[in-house]
Amino acid sequence: AVKPIQDRFERPIRDLRISVTDRCNFRCSYCMPKEVFGDDYAFLPKQELLTFEEIHRLTTVFAAMGVKKIRLTGGEPLMRRGLPDLVKSILSVDGIEDIGLTTNGLLLGAHAENLYAAGLRRLNISLDALTPELFGELNGRGVKPDLILKQIDFAQQIGFDIKVNMVVQKGVNESEILPMAAYFKERGITLRFIEFMDVGNDNGWSFKKVVTKKEILEKLQAVYDLEPVEEDYYGEVAKRYRFAGSESQVGFITSVSESFCSTCTRARLSSDGKFYTCLFADSGFDIRELVRDGLDDAELLRQISAVWQRRDDRYSDERTELTAKNRNKIGMSYIGG
Ligand code: GTP
Ligand code: 5AD
Ligand code: SF4
Ligand code: SF4
Repeated sequence: AVKPIQDRFERPIRDLRISVTDRCNFRCSYCMPKEVFGDDYAFLPKQELLTFEEIHRLTTVFAAMGVKKIRLTGGEPLMRRGLPDLVKSILSVDGIEDIGLTTNGLLLGAHAENLYAAGLRRLNISLDALTPELFGELNGRGVKPDLILKQIDFAQQIGFDIKVNMVVQKGVNESEILPMAAYFKERGITLRFIEFMDVGNDNGWSFKKVVTKKEILEKLQAVYDLEPVEEDYYGEVAKRYRFAGSESQVGFITSVSESFCSTCTRARLSSDGKFYTCLFADSGFDIRELVRDGLDDAELLRQISAVWQRRDDRYSDERTELTAKNRNKIGMSYIGG
């Protein structure tokens, strides 16, 4: 094997988050606000998207660099046609040990069985509230939570290992923390509270709108006895706790209050084949162009490795009100969270 590739802070590359489309059937205000992503918004035309063949080939190159974990994201990944074929193709790559999918869940009814059959076992499903009006507003499309809860039940019955992601915003959905915790505890599904982040340039973020892990934990501890759980893998994004006397867990993704850049082994590939070394990057490295120019695998490996070796991103460690406002960052729906 090749010698492990590390960035400037000696972080290896282990995870690749692949966005398969920049489109979404939701309009969450913190990700694709309606005012920006309106009816006339120009999404990427099909020929700009990486084909499944190109993704397969790049996965092979990334696996040679040390990537073991793939996460499929979007936009909403279930809007990309033929996704089960991509899952199968990625799982066939030597060195890839794990694949997960992050989705809003709406289209699971149509696709969950085929995805399971293709070998997918892990789903992270976003849900920010159980109150119908509030959830309808948050997703920007008036979709009711029952619809998503039904898909979650369905996916659980099929056998998927499911986590639910809830982005918590101050004064918006804090009141949903305890009802959500109770609901998913009962079902043995790990609920993860995500601190609201300043992704992209138009989500109106400020420190004041963040509810920190500490605040959420205090709310939960007023009702539940929670025990910290060891991390599952090096650099796990979430800090997890178990409800005492139960198998159920909750997690916290503390990008704002306790950043985790020092162990960040994640890279991102946008749906049009740009390579980003941080969620908060302002520009990416165009791999698609190299692929379509006919570079061979060895040369691709060399060039992508060089980008990783130059990497010095640690945005969340350095975040201030000023960087949040003044840096030009890539949008979440495009880069894939
Ligand atoms: P598993 O642990 O493999 O289940 O996946 P995950 O938690 O890494 O993926 P998911 O797509 O569910 O992401 C959950 C949240 O963590 C999202 O809000 C992501 O934007 C955030 N997140 C994931 N990786 C990073 C990262 O490297 N930096 C920051 N700041 N946030 C991240
Ligand atoms: N802050 C925190 N989490 C976010 N997500 C999208 N935008 C933000 C943001 N600004 C979440 C989604 C999904 C995951 C991929 O990222 O809700 O669960
Ligand atoms: Fe779509 Fe997910 Fe962004 Fe919401 S957070 S708009 S569901 S991609
Ligand atoms: Fe990694 Fe950038 Fe997130 Fe820090 S902010 S954990 S470097 S993706």
